[in-house]
Amino acid sequence: MSTIIKEEIIDEIKSRSNIVDIVGRYVTLKRAGANYKGLCPFHSEDTPSFIVSEDKQIFTCFGCGATGDVIEFIKRIENIEFVDAIEKLAGECGVEIKTTSEKKSEKKKEFFYQINRDAALFFYHNLCETNNAGYAYMKSRGINNATLKKFGIGYAKDAWDGLYKYFKGKNIEDRILFDLGLLSHSKGKYFDKFRNRVIFPIINTRGKIIGFGGRTIDKNALPKYLNSPESIIFQKKNNLYGLNLSRQEIQKLDSVILVEGYMDVISLYQKGIKNTAASLGTALTVQQAQMLKRYSNNIILAYDSDEAGKIAALRGMDILYEAGCNVKVLKIEGYKDPDEYVKTYGKEAFMKLASEAVPFIEYKLEEAKKNNNIHTTEGKVAYLKVAARILRKIKSQVEVEAYIKKIADETKISENAFKLEIHGNNREVTKVKYDEKKGKPDNLSTADKNNNLLEKNLIKLMIIRSEFIPEIRKYSEVFSNTAHQRIYDIIDLLYEEDEEIDVSKLKDNLTDEDIPTLDNILENIQFSGKEVQIFHDCINRIKIDRIKKRQKEIIEVLQVLDEEEDASHIRQLTNELLDIQKNLSKDNSIERGDY
Ligand code: UTP
Ligand code: MN
Repeated sequence: MSTIIKEEIIDEIKSRSNIVDIVGRYVTLKRAGANYKGLCPFHSEDTPSFIVSEDKQIFTCFGCGATGDVIEFIKRIENIEFVDAIEKLAGECGVEIKTTSEKKSEKKKEFFYQINRDAALFFYHNLCETNNAGYAYMKSRGINNATLKKFGIGYAKDAWDGLYKYFKGKNIEDRILFDLGLLSHSKGKYFDKFRNRVIFPIINTRGKIIGFGGRTIDKNALPKYLNSPESIIFQKKNNLYGLNLSRQEIQKLDSVILVEGYMDVISLYQKGIKNTAASLGTALTVQQAQMLKRYSNNIILAYDSDEAGKIAALRGMDILYEAGCNVKVLKIEGYKDPDEYVKTYGKEAFMKLASEAVPFIEYKLEEAKKNNNIHTTEGKVAYLKVAARILRKIKSQVEVEAYIKKIADETKISENAFKLEIHGNNREVTKVKYDEKKGKPDNLSTADKNNNLLEKNLIKLMIIRSEFIPEIRKYSEVFSNTAHQRIYDIIDLLYEEDEEIDVSKLKDNLTDEDIPTLDNILENIQFSGKEVQIFHDCINRIKIDRIKKRQKEIIEVLQVLDEEEDASHIRQLTNELLDIQKNLSKDNSIERGDY
């Protein structure tokens, strides 16, 4: 839900609900002085360290550190989002949170859900009541009646107007059925969109049917899967198939197996592996990653073993890692997908595969190694470059160091040379930059502004002239604004996939908070045909900045070195400094370049 809730409403809800009463419904509380005490519901404990303060209207657990107000409490205990917690509390204490137009749109959505529910029942009856091709097909795929029922699987007959007539009888407008993707329209006529297909209802975590996927039974009919279009109740980027049934198990096991297809989720479920969800063949989005994280941080990617599945997996892992997940990759070799594997070998074998899933960095490095022959010099260099790019994205220095050791070892290259490839020579410099910020705020606001503009220019350049991306990548550390960093990361990923950057795809992968930043760049950064020149100016500017930072760093180091003990180091740094100064005076013209 994207309702924006006003501050006053939140205050009103808080002032009308007493945290002691609300918490008391979930936790047995005993008075302890001015406060109340109980066993913490957020971690397991034997002696109470969970305190509720009536005065301050907050809870705090001294055991696990959980703390917050009444809204935070409901959010956590019910495992729901902020807005949903507000809604729940508002309902209880009689605060009206919706405007009339919001209420109207809510009503319309409810109506749409109802129609989808009706349609799902219609399809389900088709499948269950008589002999039909859909039922036979699902049997042939090994799906039993209980599973058919659990997932609400149905069948659309091989006819043009089965569903159409059904809803005509209920006086539902054609247009509404069309908007939901249940009917198609051509030459002035409406007709059933799903024909001779097995129907999989897509159900959100609130139990509402938001769309359908229809698998063809006829081998010659394309596409293999026909899916509902986006509608006011169905946004692909915000949903995962199966999560309605699996979220509790995911939470319980603190792990989720992410698969590609409807049939993977269904087959695994039937075999008793119930902590799964499917991204439905489309690229995983940031929103989906965020959704999964609400239930577990530990994600095992079990995509199809074909090339398309591998690419989708590579892409998905970056999105998940960026979202803060712990990502592993399960490799299915010799079989098409988890469905096929679990059907052939059963639950235990699949669980074993899952327990052998490798951390995604390791998986990526392995893939890179497979693609290059590291026994030739060229192959080794190419592998090291890719490996450096992979390692550059890791947030934990300890982890990076461990991989550096391993890779240096297997390629017989010095650790230092490889480090240089990873960090360039400005790793320390980044640190200096932050200290500098604290020291001289005045000076920096202009420097910051310039940097901001530089970052925006680079982003716009990458979008409109993607051939610049490989060069810009070399300087990716230049993005200091966090929104710019996130936008850069997505562009970088999209470029791997396709050498053109599609703005709508880019937006699909950004969270709502970053979209205004992108829109601002798209609208306000204009190059009037001078892209190439501006690109060169940007790169020059970055290079000069790097050099200047190095210069500053050298001067700082020289100040602390001992003239006798460090004589050779001093000599080396002094030479470097002289070189830098020579180069800077030569490049002065570029520095003044205006962009
Ligand atoms: P797959 O082709 O791997 O499907 O596509 P599958 O689930 O293994 O199908 P079966 O086992 O042959 O029945 C993975 C997912 O990609 C989406 C579907 O969501 C599918 O489950 N997809 C695939 C489509 O949306 N349309 C297509 O034409 C194909
Ligand atoms: Mn598949």
